[in-house]
Amino acid sequence: MAHLKGVLLAGGKGSRLYPMTNVASKQLQPIFNKPMIYYPLTTMLLSGVRDVLIISSPDDLPRFEALLGNGQRWGIRLEYVVQPEPAGIAQALILGESFIGDDSVLLMLGDNLIYGRLDFLRTAIGQNGDGATIFAYRVRNPGEYGVVEFDGDLKVRSLEEKPKNPKSDWAVPGVYIYGPGVSRRAATLQPSARGELEITDLNRLYLAEGRLRAQPMGRGLAWLDTGTPENLLEAANFVHSIEARQGLFVGSPEEAAFRMGYLSAEGLRACVDSAPIGSDYRAWLARIADEDV
Ligand code: TTP
Repeated sequence: MAHLKGVLLAGGKGSRLYPMTNVASKQLQPIFNKPMIYYPLTTMLLSGVRDVLIISSPDDLPRFEALLGNGQRWGIRLEYVVQPEPAGIAQALILGESFIGDDSVLLMLGDNLIYGRLDFLRTAIGQNGDGATIFAYRVRNPGEYGVVEFDGDLKVRSLEEKPKNPKSDWAVPGVYIYGPGVSRRAATLQPSARGELEITDLNRLYLAEGRLRAQPMGRGLAWLDTGTPENLLEAANFVHSIEARQGLFVGSPEEAAFRMGYLSAEGLRACVDSAPIGSDYRAWLARIADEDV
């Protein structure tokens, strides 16, 4: 398989989180004790990605750079590209063309939080080839999401955006895998009625060729999106419950980089030293560095 790159989308208007998003984008808002973008970034690292492109608005991109840097201290590579206007999720793949090159891509929306065993993601990456993979998560209210219908071989039969009469209970989370050449395909898309390059339209190109797979995410996984104040509170409570119970941190890129072998024990030590004394985060990193938790 071609090398896998990550593209993390952290732009958008964030209008549902107004006025919080007046001075800092949605993906910089806290989910309990970490900035939102830490969670999808951690998921990416744990799925085997080591090169990530972060895309955001002209105002916010420098804030992400200040927060995350070039990745060197975590043993990864982080690059940045501006999205001048929120002109659609699929535009990320055009903006990222030179970063992506001829590699495969794991595209994630910066406001999606996935918690649980990530085997499903690694399996899907391994099986994607030249096609595209979307994911399917069973929800109570499919009509509020993109909805996918698929057959026993996981081949997608239909894709619908917020349908009135959903054909299944399977919603499509903000995680997508594309084989080599996806930027060229995205460049052929036309803006939708709302003026955006729609990710669903890109997925439909693969669907028309019979090369779109849907990988179900089991019920043992949690998928939360954090677009509204209520979602944000629910996600914070979720993270808090797990951390309080286990004493382990959810969504730490340093830990993920260390466990994946991107970051050495020495590098992790340096992360501990650079975190402020008195922060829970420093204490947590120190615990991993000192013992195998
Ligand atoms: P949305 O939740 O659809 O939109 P939004 O973030 O602008 O929020 P709101 O609806 O409250 O105005 O976006 C999904 C994700 O994709 C989110 O992480 C923002 C990101 N995004 C971009 O980075 N660029 C874009 O052009 C679009 C449309 C979304």
